[in-house]
Amino acid sequence: MKAIKGIIFDLYGTLYDVHSVARHCSEHFPGRGLEISMIWRQKQLEYTWLRSLMGHYLPFEEATDDALRYTCSHLKLMLTNDVRTTLCNEYLKIQPYPEVPAALAELQAMDLPLAILSNGSVRSIHSVVSHSGLEGHFAHLISVEHVKVFKPHPDVYALAENTMGLHRSEILFVSSNAWDASGARHFGYPVCWVNRADSSFEELGQQPDHIVSRLDDLPLWLGQAVPR
Ligand code: 2OP
Repeated sequence: MKAIKGIIFDLYGTLYDVHSVARHCSEHFPGRGLEISMIWRQKQLEYTWLRSLMGHYLPFEEATDDALRYTCSHLKLMLTNDVRTTLCNEYLKIQPYPEVPAALAELQAMDLPLAILSNGSVRSIHSVVSHSGLEGHFAHLISVEHVKVFKPHPDVYALAENTMGLHRSEILFVSSNAWDASGARHFGYPVCWVNRADSSFEELGQQPDHIVSRLDDLPLWLGQAVPR
């Protein structure tokens, strides 16, 4: 691996816990919160991939809204417009994983420019990051909105490389989404996979360069094992 001069993070599922909405889902559908949030997230991802294939981009919030409507219909739950609006708004305020703020502070202290590259719209990314108070850690918040196609399309990874002003081989790409880590590795980024759930990596022709189970393992590994 070459010297690492910057880090790009995925947002949903890597820095921020998409299932922090489960609690709000339970308030409206008692006992069903996690079930809803699991199907909601999976369907949201599928809709982004399908829309990229169809050449019909739409902002991430709309894919999220469509996925929630599908989920409730699939589970035969009555979704009123009020609850739909409330739950979609909660997606704009999802919580960071507990170890993330300290890990970002440690990485920033290592003088590495940090960025987020997300399928989220400009509005979604800014809302989530500013709600958590972590915006001061990032040099760039990069949305797919600028290229109007979703990850794992290579145009998205190229957008981040151009924004960082570094060569792809100098940027560590960090994601807990194995499909995203695979796409980034195919593009040419060195990749760290955050395997939070002790899952298997995707069989998509690439392997991560490094695996951690939590974000706070990253500064230690970077400090000890990676040239800068
Ligand atoms: C992202 O933040 C959807 O997790 C994915 O781009």
